[in-house]
Amino acid sequence: MITSLAFLIAAVLFILGIKMLASPKTARKGNFIAGVGMVLALLAVLPQLHGSHGTSVSLGKWLLMCVGILLGLVVGAAGAYKVKMTAMPQMVALFNGAGGGAAALVAAIEFAHLTPTSSLVFVISMLCAAMIGALSLSGSIIAFFKLEGHFDKPVTYPAQQLLNGLLFVISALLALVMTMGSHGMVLMCLFLLIALALGVLMVMPIGGADMPVVISLLNSFTGLAVAADGFAIDNVAMIIAGTLVGSSGTILTLAMCKAMNRPVTNVLFSAFGKVDATASAAAASTGSVKSVHADEAALLLGMAGRLVIVPGYGLAVAQAQHQVRQLADELAKKGVEVVFAIHPVAGRMPGHMNVLLAEADVPYDQLIEMESINPEMDRVDVCLVIGANDVVNPAAHEDKSSPIYGMPIIEAEKSGTVIVMKRSMGKGFAGIENALFLRDNCRMLFGDAKASLQELVTLVKAG
Ligand code: TAP
Repeated sequence: MITSLAFLIAAVLFILGIKMLASPKTARKGNFIAGVGMVLALLAVLPQLHGSHGTSVSLGKWLLMCVGILLGLVVGAAGAYKVKMTAMPQMVALFNGAGGGAAALVAAIEFAHLTPTSSLVFVISMLCAAMIGALSLSGSIIAFFKLEGHFDKPVTYPAQQLLNGLLFVISALLALVMTMGSHGMVLMCLFLLIALALGVLMVMPIGGADMPVVISLLNSFTGLAVAADGFAIDNVAMIIAGTLVGSSGTILTLAMCKAMNRPVTNVLFSAFGKVDATASAAAASTGSVKSVHADEAALLLGMAGRLVIVPGYGLAVAQAQHQVRQLADELAKKGVEVVFAIHPVAGRMPGHMNVLLAEADVPYDQLIEMESINPEMDRVDVCLVIGANDVVNPAAHEDKSSPIYGMPIIEAEKSGTVIVMKRSMGKGFAGIENALFLRDNCRMLFGDAKASLQELVTLVKAG
């Protein structure tokens, strides 16, 4: 009774936590509340632990569990403290992979305890958890390495869909044999190996730029695997937490695909990132690069009536969020109307720019969503693009051959003057040229974003 009540409270805390994560104002509290829910669920389950057949748990096993919990706490906390903001997707990939692996292990261990009287729901739940969890583990590890830049290009090979299809059919047959009563661990190990191979083969052909979407999808897989485990071992908290993760992961995946104007099938099967070099070269072949010095840029900014700042991945790399806030404040003191235009997939994870700017206490009402700012861009005097590239690339609506064609962008090119701050003519994550940089109204302020912003702050203050 007490355990059920604790699970119910934990579930309510998970739901409240996720709800609060929807706004930057309440996200920190939401994370804490969901964490409290997790601790409660853990405490509730410990006293009622028993072996699969009602046997009590030995002291050795208790100790083992405590060591596992401690290890998880230390690795989790140390990882979260040390990780750089720009490496957050990699950390999510690793944690997600660990969750999938744990779900697969639970399923495999329970499988070893099957009896002839075990229900069909129990067997099917375990097989689902083992398959999805193992696939999520290996897929997340490949996603981690891709985000770390270890595979430059999507790895494609002939008949890849055929091979994946074949592996699916073999695993379905194995599942059928195991459901019909053959409970040998050799079959289970083979089943797990195929699931691991499928995870690798499915993620390898997907381009690095799509990894955040893939991680979100794998995250929803892990949630489903945990929920399936919950069904198998009759644990309500796991069913609720798994379903929440599964559904929120799916919603996030679809939201990201919508923001890039690409169906999820295109993300999974189009090897995005295998760039057509002729197309990108053609897109960039008109116009010339016009660089600007910081003093001239400071003058342009100081004279602007309306300024829109477009932050991107480079701002996060440079960790220049405090400097951009200072610049916005100094310009506002001089009467410039300053807002930040937020593209939904700027950076490398959902909400990346919101989190970055919130760190520097940029007021939320200064952050304007892409859909709201675009209709006003032709009335903007200066658009300051800081470390953003793909999200302001006009090829997205001008060049049908571009891999980002159709992706909504912030229409920086419509403003009176565009100042782009980046270190070189280097490409963005999509690996394509950006014709904006060659437009007549565009000026390039080359250099690390933090150093350039610092210089601009000094010049604007002195001006
Ligand atoms: P990107 O297109 O990746 O461009 C970032 C630019 O920042 C680079 O061109 C780089 O140019 C510059 N840069 C790097 N370090 C810098 C530094 N220290 N100082 C100044 N500039 C620096 O970024 P974006 O415009 O934010 O676009 C995000 C990309 O990720 C999109 O393609 C999007 O589809 C993809 N993506 C994002 C997500 C999410 S959820 N955010 C999900 C899936 C895909 P230099 O090397 O010349 O400096």
